[in-house]
Amino acid sequence: MAKMTIDELFKMLWKEYTRICPDADPIRRLLSKQDGADIVNDHVAFRTYNIEPVGLASFETAIGKLGYARKGEYMFKEKKLRAFHFEAGDEHPKVFVSELLVENFSPSFQKTVKRMVERVDSELEGSLKLFLADRPWPMVYYDEYQELLSESEYGAWLAAFGLRANHFTVAVHKMKSIASIEDVVKILQSAGFAMNTSGGLIKGTKADCLLQASTLGSKIEWSFAGEEKHIIPGCYYEFAERLRQADGTLYGGFVEKSADKIFESTNVKRSGYSK
Ligand code: NI
Repeated sequence: MAKMTIDELFKMLWKEYTRICPDADPIRRLLSKQDGADIVNDHVAFRTYNIEPVGLASFETAIGKLGYARKGEYMFKEKKLRAFHFEAGDEHPKVFVSELLVENFSPSFQKTVKRMVERVDSELEGSLKLFLADRPWPMVYYDEYQELLSESEYGAWLAAFGLRANHFTVAVHKMKSIASIEDVVKILQSAGFAMNTSGGLIKGTKADCLLQASTLGSKIEWSFAGEEKHIIPGCYYEFAERLRQADGTLYGGFVEKSADKIFESTNVKRSGYSK
């Protein structure tokens, strides 16, 4: 693990990710064919709880080992999240890690999460293995998942799926012949892929210098404790078009109000899943 390169990490992450986002690889192939070029990845996003050994600080130490440095900090008050984004030069995808501020939830929510995180191997702290940890805590029962879900869609998703890439993102601004995110969305809709419409199909404005869209989290059958299986939203694929700022440079950050809506791509209610 010590000698892992950035490319190797993303390759392993993509493999795991496409297992619970079965739409991602067909979409990548479709867009690549239409564009006549390989798809470039803008960023990969991770979710975690703000409790060590799995907190944001631990992720920052881990990704620092591959030369990534923190570039931006974000707050999502309503969803009770904070996030950092990290960069390692323009030739590598950005890494976006958010953490749930667990202390802002009910005592029973906190108890469930703490009980899970207590079971995590402390060796994960600051290790690159964090990014590939799968679910480092015991499987939750479906009724625990439902309980977490009633307070935080994010918290419930994380309990079920653990530490893994929550989404990869197509860098639309790096495409060769597809000109805009509107065109990407049109291609996907005519191919029948379901898009997240929370906050509009395309999130952000030209003034933000960042336009984003995403599919809805693919419905997948997932195992819970007690040998139960249920259909829940897995991961989604994102599309980002970065625009030039007044000084001529490409905008490199994230827009809180757009990211806030992108988080909802794994929402059970919005996605129309039965409970
Ligand atoms: Ni994203």
